[in-house]
Amino acid sequence: MLKLDFHPSGRHFLQIPGPSPVPDRILRAMSYPTIDHRGPEFGALGRKVLTDIKKIFKTEQPVVIYPASGTGAWEAALSNTLSPGDHVLMFETGHFATLWKKMAENLGLRPEFIGLPGTEGWRRGVQPDMIEARLRADTGHGIKAVCVVHNETSTGVTSDIAAVRRAIDAAGHPALLLVDTISGLGSADYRHDEWGVDVTVSGSQKGLMLPPGISFNAVSAKALEASRHAKLPRAFWGWQEIIEANKNGYWPYTPNTNLLYGLSEALDMILEEGLDNVFARHQRLAEAARRAVRAWGLEIQCQDPAVYSPVLTGVVMPQGVDADAVRKRIYERFDMSLGQALGKIRGTMFRIGHLGDCNDLTLMATLAGCEMGLQLSGVNLAGSGVVAAMDYLAKAQDTPALKAAA
Ligand SMILES: Cc1ncc(COP(=O)(O)O)c(C=O)c1O
Repeated sequence: MLKLDFHPSGRHFLQIPGPSPVPDRILRAMSYPTIDHRGPEFGALGRKVLTDIKKIFKTEQPVVIYPASGTGAWEAALSNTLSPGDHVLMFETGHFATLWKKMAENLGLRPEFIGLPGTEGWRRGVQPDMIEARLRADTGHGIKAVCVVHNETSTGVTSDIAAVRRAIDAAGHPALLLVDTISGLGSADYRHDEWGVDVTVSGSQKGLMLPPGISFNAVSAKALEASRHAKLPRAFWGWQEIIEANKNGYWPYTPNTNLLYGLSEALDMILEEGLDNVFARHQRLAEAARRAVRAWGLEIQCQDPAVYSPVLTGVVMPQGVDADAVRKRIYERFDMSLGQALGKIRGTMFRIGHLGDCNDLTLMATLAGCEMGLQLSGVNLAGSGVVAAMDYLAKAQDTPALKAAA
């Protein structure tokens, strides 16, 4: 038998920006016995999760649930709506935008990757004016889709999707709008219908507090219509058959029953807390984390306060400090995992995840681990980030529950 000897006392601090810690309530729900996926109980479960997930996407339209990681749902979004050789406009916000673009190439699409020069785009959000200008120049309407990442997990930037919609409309362009909110959903406000998004892609292991393994496409009527003519080959990912089976709460294949138990529980938890309270909690934790970074005298990866992410904070290391060495020290000494810097900015910063099942004290412990680890790594700190964060959190009254407790 595999010997699992890596569990020291207390809980591991899983403070990467997803997978996020799975609450006991969800773990327990996932341990229910697996049932017949064509039986009556399953149909009721299917109908419940398919209805309630729409509240999280803020949509009245179908949400397709796949037994796959987020990458699968990326592929589903592209392959259901586009044809070989189609020109798509994608915006470089960081590592995940880059991976989605690579996937578009691999599928035989022609992605055009626009963005700010060098790594500047990895410190700011999507620039809607650049999208508008590019679409205005496309007078023949050759561009079939605009693809953007809502919460760029590699940098800690949450782009303004409503502004991207306005840019497309201002250019009078018919391109579809495809949005990845794999790490935003359930943590940052998201409005599939109101923002006129055609396909929203998301995943289970971030704000929804589930293990990795399910992912989503929320689909507009325009996207569904496009799928009737789109010619990219697709079989497993095809929307039509799944949406048809979903009408009765079933899937055309064997869905992952136990993760759907977990999803049902997660949706109950989020809706019980209230979406607005969930978003306020994430904003509060993110603000506390940023105050800590500033008190340490370090830079935040995101340089535009208008698009700071409520999900994670990127902490830039001073010149000459290897962020991965700091992370390693924190992992070994304090049993805490932090996110590494990916792609173009590897080694320059680390990412603190403050998403999902996270509260004020979880964050305080996380910041304490970071502060001690930075000190042990010989990083010169201007002051205590822990004290700055405590000062802020102690006074926060951003939800009815906090006001009542004040
Ligand atoms: C923004 C974003 N897009 C896509 C992905 C890929 O999803 P997955 O790793 O679940 O396939 C991730 C994963 O972290 C992500 O954060």
